[in-house]
Amino acid sequence: MRHLKGRLHKAADEKVAAYTSSLPFDWRLYRQDIAGSIAHARMLAKQGIISESDSVLIVQGLESIQQEIEQGKFEFKAELEDIHMAIEARLIEKTGEVGGKLHTARSRNDQIALDLRLYIREVIAQTINSIRELQRALVNLAEANMDVVIPGYTHLQPAQPVLLAHHLLAYFEMLQRDISRLKCSRKRVDVLPLGSGAMAGVAYNVDRDFLSRELGFDQVSQNSLDAVSDRDFVLEYEAAASIGMMHLSRLAEEVILWSSAEFGFIELDEAFATGSSIMPQKKNPDVAELVRGKTGRVYGNLMALLTTMKALPLSYNRDLQEDKEGLFDTVDTLLASLDICTGMIATLKVNTENAAKAMGRGYLLATDLADYLVRKGEAFRNAHEIVGRLVSYAVKEGKSLAELSFAEYSNFSPLFDKDVYTITIESSLAARDTVGGTAPKRVAQALADAKKTLGQGS
Ligand code: ARG
Repeated sequence: MRHLKGRLHKAADEKVAAYTSSLPFDWRLYRQDIAGSIAHARMLAKQGIISESDSVLIVQGLESIQQEIEQGKFEFKAELEDIHMAIEARLIEKTGEVGGKLHTARSRNDQIALDLRLYIREVIAQTINSIRELQRALVNLAEANMDVVIPGYTHLQPAQPVLLAHHLLAYFEMLQRDISRLKCSRKRVDVLPLGSGAMAGVAYNVDRDFLSRELGFDQVSQNSLDAVSDRDFVLEYEAAASIGMMHLSRLAEEVILWSSAEFGFIELDEAFATGSSIMPQKKNPDVAELVRGKTGRVYGNLMALLTTMKALPLSYNRDLQEDKEGLFDTVDTLLASLDICTGMIATLKVNTENAAKAMGRGYLLATDLADYLVRKGEAFRNAHEIVGRLVSYAVKEGKSLAELSFAEYSNFSPLFDKDVYTITIESSLAARDTVGGTAPKRVAQALADAKKTLGQGS
């Protein structure tokens, strides 16, 4: 690009051009770039920095460039450094000298900061919508299976009975926090950097408040050096995305476990499962495995940008161009993972029989038995000890707690009464009637609250 070279007389080495170009990936910001340029051109005319007629020609030119790009007619020339240069060069091709006025009172440094902020603002809204869809699928699955009980686990060992719906709604809560993290970060994205110039501000009478209003920003950045070199908002999105992927990965892990022959609590829909190229009997949870697997690259993108930014002196440095590929990869991965999880959850079937069978293993009512002794007057520590010995006896005898005779119970404590047999899965669930507990009426309330949240839109 001759007009870019300034003091340089020699064209960049081909390798240098290829190495430094961001066009192969930042073309994705064309809409934001054009929106920013249109606002800038209007502001320049309003302030009398360029003429009204030049501004009109520039805006028309930019609009037609957007059409060219969207219709696949735009030529992304490899020798142009980035999307900003590519659009400006085309504008100059179309409008001649007039197009050369657009970059007055602006630098690519405040331009790219603007484009990224516009992009992340949109992406936050899209991410929230996709999270909502997954929440909806979880709520529907919970609602359709309100009477299914599964073993709750700690250390992946059977612990206490819980409603399947309670377990599913735990993910609703995680996703709810993901949304709140994104909403909170949006406030910090909503700051206009344009008008910061290369780094010191611009030597023209620009109207930054006008730009901010045109582009729908909440605030105007207060320090030009910071504005061109800050990428906290990219990091915040990537951090929120990483936490979100961690949640999806945990959900995926449970889908993998639960669809195994050993658990068998759920059956994946065939459209969301894969076969094996060698073992004909296989129905594999590859979708869930890939969600779990892709979490790594999303964490990696966050670490990569944190590392890129560490020890960068103020203000803009070309290192910052490295923010984009990781960000785009994170956005694509997160949105695709949310979408696929929604489909997988929406189509899977719960195997009620297997869940019921699992309830018979693992002495899930041991805590209730200890609580029973406490109600009869035993101190909890002693009750814990007594039931521990009782369970190890039952294991040795190969009996469940319900199969022990009253005499056998009485051997362990005189406090056992015939009503010990009223301890059941149902009584265990109902007893956990605390806020956030698994008692069916609490879970029904939580489900109603979740539906209300979904009904309230964002
Ligand atoms: N492609 C660059 C980036 O993504 C745009 C800003 C370039 N500025 C510069 N002075 N070379 O960061």
